[in-house]
Amino acid sequence: MEIKVVENAASIEADILVVNQFEGEKTSNDLANKYAVDEDNFKGKFGETYLLPTYGEAPYRKVLVIGFGKKDEFCSNKLREATAKAIKKCSQMEAKKVAFVYDGVDFDYSEQLVMGAFIADYKFDKYKSEKKDKHIQEVYVKANPEIVKKAEKISAAMSFARNLANEPAQFATPSELANIAQDFGLDTTIYDKEECEKMGMGAFLAVGQGSINEPKFIHMKYTCDNPKKRIAIIGKGICFDSGGLDIKPASSMITMKDDMSGAACVLGVMSIIKEFNPQVEVHGIIAACENMPSGKAYKPGDIVTAKNGKTIEIDNTDAEGRLTLADALCYACELGVDEVIDLATLTGACMVALGTHASGIMGNDEGLINTLIETAKRNGENFWELPLWDEYFDGLKSDIADMKNSGSRWGGASAAGVFLKKFVKDVKWAHIDIAGTAFLDKPQKEFISGATGAGVRTILNYILEQ
Ligand code: BES
Ligand code: MN
Ligand code: ZN
Repeated sequence: MEIKVVENAASIEADILVVNQFEGEKTSNDLANKYAVDEDNFKGKFGETYLLPTYGEAPYRKVLVIGFGKKDEFCSNKLREATAKAIKKCSQMEAKKVAFVYDGVDFDYSEQLVMGAFIADYKFDKYKSEKKDKHIQEVYVKANPEIVKKAEKISAAMSFARNLANEPAQFATPSELANIAQDFGLDTTIYDKEECEKMGMGAFLAVGQGSINEPKFIHMKYTCDNPKKRIAIIGKGICFDSGGLDIKPASSMITMKDDMSGAACVLGVMSIIKEFNPQVEVHGIIAACENMPSGKAYKPGDIVTAKNGKTIEIDNTDAEGRLTLADALCYACELGVDEVIDLATLTGACMVALGTHASGIMGNDEGLINTLIETAKRNGENFWELPLWDEYFDGLKSDIADMKNSGSRWGGASAAGVFLKKFVKDVKWAHIDIAGTAFLDKPQKEFISGATGAGVRTILNYILEQ
């Protein structure tokens, strides 16, 4: 899909012209006003659509009216959602050229219109022998060209992340993620198993040891002259989470190819970062491996030693993400960065607490957390802060090691958070649990089922706003 910035989108010979209607008001289009609003009493409730043919009376073949709902409740997030809805309708009609004229909106909608269009136009049909759903080819709109360019890049990063997380685990292996990371033209280092052993990453390696696919520790670095800040972003990279010897039931395992959604987010961000040339240094870090049961797998009761020397008694092999992140956090802290942000499909408990509508966020710096929450909100994601009190560590106390990797069922998202905190040193840190938001069982708002690219929009905008 290509976005074409034009002065007058209504003059384009498009398949469909999309116009908006605020509830109880008229549209900017005479045909729509005559037939939809006056004759058929179309109200313009949020998300409702009305399609009418123009029978040669206009350059466009059809008009699609999209309801914007009550004017005083309207906002940029609703605009993105409505745009996505319109794009989906147009795509059902097999439209190729779509023009948008939005009238009476009192903010610059360039960014969210483009985001909505690309999110809605996304498909994952590479394994379908018949590609049924057609993409929209051209979108015409009057918008700010610079902002359109920015939104196109962020959308591309999101689609990149969605493709990776949707990719079956048989293909999206640790080595494959490492290969992908090396294609961005960044300063990238891949550490294999032996090198990770030398670095003392006993927690990460324990998780990966049950799989025939070798673990890879990935470090990508983007930098510039005199960076204003140094940031590390870490993505949980469990390419498949079977649970290990504490194996998951089938119904919980079915979506576990998505357990590298944090890594997909980091790769999405790093895939486009050079094109933005931001004045910050950004390290993208992924401890990639598979959590599998086998004769070589790590076992409940094992004790592993993380990079910072802390010992961990394995209580449950399915609490693997925090083990891999522990070593990744140690590694990131040793880089001397100002901030570390990790994104992880970490706990079912976070999903129970917040559902699919919000990611959990916690950390050691309220300023960083609040900025991320605000950035998320402006860009269509929801981050909700969960507590990170020391009390949550009570359940992780071990009789024979420094800690256990899991304990009480209750407050599982915060317990995972306090576990991670033990591996964070002298740095501002935020942990984002995307277990509920990264992968959808059924369509939700702008998204089809499957991977959502959770975190990409927020992290890129956060980086760009430094
Ligand atoms: N990858 C899962 C968490 C998850 C669950 C992500 C559902 C997305 C959807 C994680 O590795 C896990 O298995 N966590 C366990 C931890 C428990 C054993 C302490 C969980 O949440 O049940
Ligand atoms: Mn697990
Ligand atoms: Zn997992």
